[in-house]
Amino acid sequence: MTGKDEDIGKFKVPSLRNVALTAPYMHDGSVATLSAVIDHYAHGLQNHPNQSPLLQTFDISETEKAALIAF
Ligand code: HEM
Repeated sequence: MTGKDEDIGKFKVPSLRNVALTAPYMHDGSVATLSAVIDHYAHGLQNHPNQSPLLQTFDISETEKAALIAF
C-alpha cells in the first residue's frame, strides 16, 4: 500500500469479535480453524524481517488451547 520496504508484510490487526463465526481465517482464508490459527502462532511463524517482536513461538497445551478458543 505504501510502497515502503519497511511496510512489506505488515497488516492491520483485525478485530476478533465474533471470530468463531467467520472461518476461514487470515487475509487469504488459508487457515480453516481457530485451532490451526493458534498452531500457526505457536510454531508456524516465518521470521519475516518486518515481523513484530511480539510474535514469538510458544508452547500451549490442548487444555489451554481449548480455553483460548472458548474465550
Ligand atoms: C496467540 C495469540 C493470538 C491469537 C489467538 C490470534 C488470533 C488471530 C485470528 C483468529 C486471526 C484471524 C482473524 C480473521 O481472519 O478474521 C488473526 C489475524 C491477525 N493477527 Fe492475530 N492472534 C494472536 C496474536 C497476534 C499478535 C501478537 C499480533 C501482532 C503483533 C497479531 C496480529 C494479527 C494480524 C496482523 C492478523 C491478520 C493476518 C492476516 O489477515 O493474514 N496477532 N489473529
